Amino acid sequence: MYRFNLLPIFALCCMLSLSFAANSIPSFGLQTATAIRSKLRDQDFRIQFTRATQVKTPTFQVSIADLTRFPALAGTDVQSMIVKVNLKAGEPFIRHFHPRGTETLNALQGTFRVSFRFEGLGEVRNVTNVIRTGESTVFPQGLIHETTCISKGDCVFLSVFNTADAGTVPV
Ligand SMILES: *[C@@H]1O[C@H](CO)[C@@H](O)[C@H](O)[C@H]1NC(C)=O
Repeated sequence: MYRFNLLPIFALCCMLSLSFAANSIPSFGLQTATAIRSKLRDQDFRIQFTRATQVKTPTFQVSIADLTRFPALAGTDVQSMIVKVNLKAGEPFIRHFHPRGTETLNALQGTFRVSFRFEGLGEVRNVTNVIRTGESTVFPQGLIHETTCISKGDCVFLSVFNTADAGTVPV
């Protein structure tokens, strides 16, 4: 008789204490992101391209800001890479693709002809556009793309990746 009456009360207490416990435990993902972010200084969130990894050729200069020098780009809730490219007037950038990430190219200076190709429905599609200063375009993950500076003056673009490790494969 006694046991019968206590059982629902015990069950209710059990459910309440479980839900209180669940409410007070943040998700592990959030904890990790917060822990990483808390260790960074304010200036770690400033991306200065003079501090980025540099690649120079006679026709272009690439500044790569990634997690090796900018840990703020590699929080569990961030995962990005930012690349700034200076391209001489009339010159193409190397034809390549990124096996593990999508690139959003933002034209900071000059005019670009951009294209990417992919296997469409029964044909190879070539998507070509002219991108002017202040405009953006996107190169989907894994697709071969080309960017040429077609203005009289030199060009500058800033590309932001949706992952910290997109990879670059010249073709
Ligand atoms: C797309 O077509 C243009 C014009 O024929 C060509 O110059 C460019 O190389 C092509 N793009 C790609 C990524 O194959």
